[in-house]
Amino acid sequence: MSAGAVESAGPPGFNYDEAAVPRYELPDPLRTEGGEVVKDAEMWRAVRRPELLALIEREMFGKAPARPALWSKALETPAEALGGKAVRHRVFVSFTGKAEGPGMEMLVYLPAGAKGPVPVVLGLNFRGNHTVTDDPAVPVTASWVPNDAKAGIKDHRATEAGRGSEAGRWQVPYAVGRGYGVATIYYGDIDPDEDDGWKNGVHALHGGAEGRDGASWGSIAAWTWGLRLGLDALEQMPGVDGKRVICQGHSRLGKTALWAGAVDERFAMVISNDSGAGGAALNKRIFGETVGRLNTSFPHWFCGNFRKYSENEGAMPFDAHSLIALTAPRPLLITSATEDLWADPKGEFLGGLHASPVWRLLGAEGLGVSEMPEPMRLVGGRVGYFLRTGPHDVTQEDWKAYLDFADRVLKP
Ligand code: GCU
Repeated sequence: MSAGAVESAGPPGFNYDEAAVPRYELPDPLRTEGGEVVKDAEMWRAVRRPELLALIEREMFGKAPARPALWSKALETPAEALGGKAVRHRVFVSFTGKAEGPGMEMLVYLPAGAKGPVPVVLGLNFRGNHTVTDDPAVPVTASWVPNDAKAGIKDHRATEAGRGSEAGRWQVPYAVGRGYGVATIYYGDIDPDEDDGWKNGVHALHGGAEGRDGASWGSIAAWTWGLRLGLDALEQMPGVDGKRVICQGHSRLGKTALWAGAVDERFAMVISNDSGAGGAALNKRIFGETVGRLNTSFPHWFCGNFRKYSENEGAMPFDAHSLIALTAPRPLLITSATEDLWADPKGEFLGGLHASPVWRLLGAEGLGVSEMPEPMRLVGGRVGYFLRTGPHDVTQEDWKAYLDFADRVLKP
C-alpha cells in the first residue's frame, strides 16, 4: 500500500505499522473471574456468559434501562415500492409504551410476492430513512441531524436533496432480490450523536444527567436499546420471520450491532461492518484508533468507566474477542476494508479468531481459518470474515458477503 493510502486511512499520529504492535495478552473468555476453566456449554451459559456480559456492560457500554412494552402503529398501509420489487411498511414505535410519543420510525422493505415469512436485515442508518433508497414516499427526517461542519449549517442531506444519498450502503433492491427484507431506523431518532450532557434523546426520558455514575449508559447503549425495540416491532410484523432477524451495522453502528447481538439473543445473526476500535478490532493491539481517542473524540459513546482504559488498553479485563464471543453460538460476520487501517482489519480478523474457542465449546465451528484471507474471499464457519478491497464504507460487495453468509448459516 502506498504511503498516501495509509495517510488517507486515518489521522496522523497513530500506529499503522504492524511491526509496532506491542506484545499483548488477551484475557481468556473461557476462564471465569474466579480463575476457573469453563468446561462445558452449561457453565458458559449459567456462569461465564452472564459474568462477561455484566463486565462489558459495566466497563464499556453502560447499563440501559428496561424497554417499554411495545406500542407501535402503522404509518401507512403497506404499499408497493421500488418498481414493484418490494412492499414498504412504515411503522412508528413509541419510546414510552404509550401512544403519546416520542418514538422512532422504522422503515421496512419486504420482497414482493414472498412465499412465506422472510429473514430481515435490521440496522440503524446515519442520515435518515429517506436517504436509504430513492423511494419518494419516505418522509425526510425531522429529527436531530449533525451539522455540516464546513458550511456551519444543518446537514444538507436532511432535506429532499439527501433522498437516496445512502442507497449504495443499503442495497435494498439487491437484498429484496435475494429474498431478504431490510428494516432500518435513523439513529438520530433514538439519540443525537453528540456530547449533549444527556439532555436529549432517550437519555432525557430516563432522568438525563441525574444520578448517573461510571456505569450509566452511553449513546451506543441507547442506540442498542432502540434496535431492540425495533426487533420487538419486527417480530409482530406479518411477512417477517422473527426468528431470522439479522442485526447489521457500519462503523460506530457496527459497534452498536455487536453490543445488540451480545445483549439480545433474539438476533439470529450479527454483522459488524468496519466497526474497528470499540467494535470487532482488538484494542490491545493499539493499531489505528485507540481507546483514548474514542473516549476523547466521542465521550458520549461509551460509559464513564471506559475512560480507565484510555492509553491503558493493557489493563482491560476483556477485549473485542470477549464482546464478539457473547453472540456465540449464533452466526456472526465481520467485514473489513483493505484501506480502512483506522479500523484495523487485522485486529478485526483476530477478534473473530480469538472468540472462536467459545463457538467450539458450544459445539459450533468458529472462524475455521487462522490466517487472514486475501481480499474479496468470504471465509469462516459460524464466524465469518470478509475483507473488501477499498475504503471505509458499505458496498454491494459487502452485501453480497452478508447474504452469501446468511444463505449458508440461517436456515428457516
Ligand atoms: C470515526 C471513529 C470510528 C467510527 C467512525 C464512524 O472514524 O473514529 O470509531 O467507527 O467514525 O462511525 O464512521
